Amino acid sequence: MKIAFGCDHAGFEYKERVIEHLRQKGHEVVDFGTNGPESVDYPVYGEKVGRAVGHGECDLGVLICGTGFGISLSANHCAGVRAVVCSEPFTAQLARRHNNANVLAFGARVVGIEMAYMIIDSFLDAQFEGGRHARRVAMMDAIQREG
Ligand code: RB5
Repeated sequence: MKIAFGCDHAGFEYKERVIEHLRQKGHEVVDFGTNGPESVDYPVYGEKVGRAVGHGECDLGVLICGTGFGISLSANHCAGVRAVVCSEPFTAQLARRHNNANVLAFGARVVGIEMAYMIIDSFLDAQFEGGRHARRVAMMDAIQREG
């Protein structure tokens, strides 16, 4: 899959390891930054990844900030984006299976790197189940479209 990656300065410490992990799993990664430890504004990177996924240029997105919140909230303002913050693998898997989440966010100040790998793997390895969940996802998307 083609995966959009973005982080702010708080997520930067995990950036290279997470991108390498994604590549080792056979994914293509489009890196939207940030590219250094200097303080930056997380909405910039949430928007870049959100637009890439929302426009269909990338299949899924991975975002990291301090908590995962600011950067995921920013991505969620982009049409077609369903971004979730996960701190463990179970919710990451269900976010794909039930909610058809297309952007995974987590906090570098919340989860260790090994837990981050497990969260990412659970998210990427799961498939949307459709059925009754598709109706609910369509309802969410309609809410977003209507603003
Ligand atoms: C940056 O200090 C921090 O506020 C940011 O990474 C994130 O945690 C915000 O939600």
